[in-house]
Amino acid sequence: MKIQDFKAFKKAGRKISMVTCYDHWSAKIVNASNIDCLLVGDSLAMVMHGYPTTIAATTSLMALHTTAVVKGAPDKFIVADLPFLSYRKGLSENMSSIEELMRAGAHALKLEGARGNLDLIRHVVDSGVPVQGHIGLTPQSIHQLGGFKVQGRSPQEYSDLVEQALQLEAAGCFSLVLECVPSTLALEISSKLSIPTIGIGAGLGTDGQVLVLQDMLGMNPQFKPKFLRTYLDGFDLLKNYLNEYHNDVTQLQFPTEKESYL
Ligand code: KIV
Repeated sequence: MKIQDFKAFKKAGRKISMVTCYDHWSAKIVNASNIDCLLVGDSLAMVMHGYPTTIAATTSLMALHTTAVVKGAPDKFIVADLPFLSYRKGLSENMSSIEELMRAGAHALKLEGARGNLDLIRHVVDSGVPVQGHIGLTPQSIHQLGGFKVQGRSPQEYSDLVEQALQLEAAGCFSLVLECVPSTLALEISSKLSIPTIGIGAGLGTDGQVLVLQDMLGMNPQFKPKFLRTYLDGFDLLKNYLNEYHNDVTQLQFPTEKESYL
């Protein structure tokens, strides 16, 4: 998939599939799949590093993971998240973060929210860097939002999100993530924009879907939000194979002669 395909897919009514990817070995699997594009999301702070929010992600951490994913998925379009505050520090420092992630090999960058970001988005897009917007539940503002919850339910929030979506398209974003918003709102935004929307917890009316890879593979059985579909019971599956290996070792079933050097 190339940058031009995002609009073309929307025009053709072809939905876009996206998953998060944080490391080299899962990147190789996703690269071999039909998934359209990857997101090196700052959710890696939670999923890979065990933090309670995405706030712990830094530009250098994002760059390290982006490099690993880029090397494993050379055939995919890869978006990397600009982490917490990395694009709110003044133009020169913002551009250093952007440069670091693009030099790590990302094809595009994602940032959260419209307010205060529009001039930067115009500048970054004019500098040759595709930008993906992200509105609705914006995890970097979790302490201001008061928790991980559905956004855009009140009439005021609803119209504010429609307004932000239009502003992000006008500023030059090539696509827009809509996270945890009512399906009616996601549908209205998607129908008003010519750039594709990619939803997570936003219903069927968006132009594509994104899920966290480990969530869709059932690696975190405690995490069961309404919007999530798990395609594998990954946690138990892997645990059972580890137990099988443990039993083989402790019962002298591994290694056999075939698995040993003579
Ligand atoms: O960081 C992330 O994983 C994201 C997705 C939830 C869209 O931003």
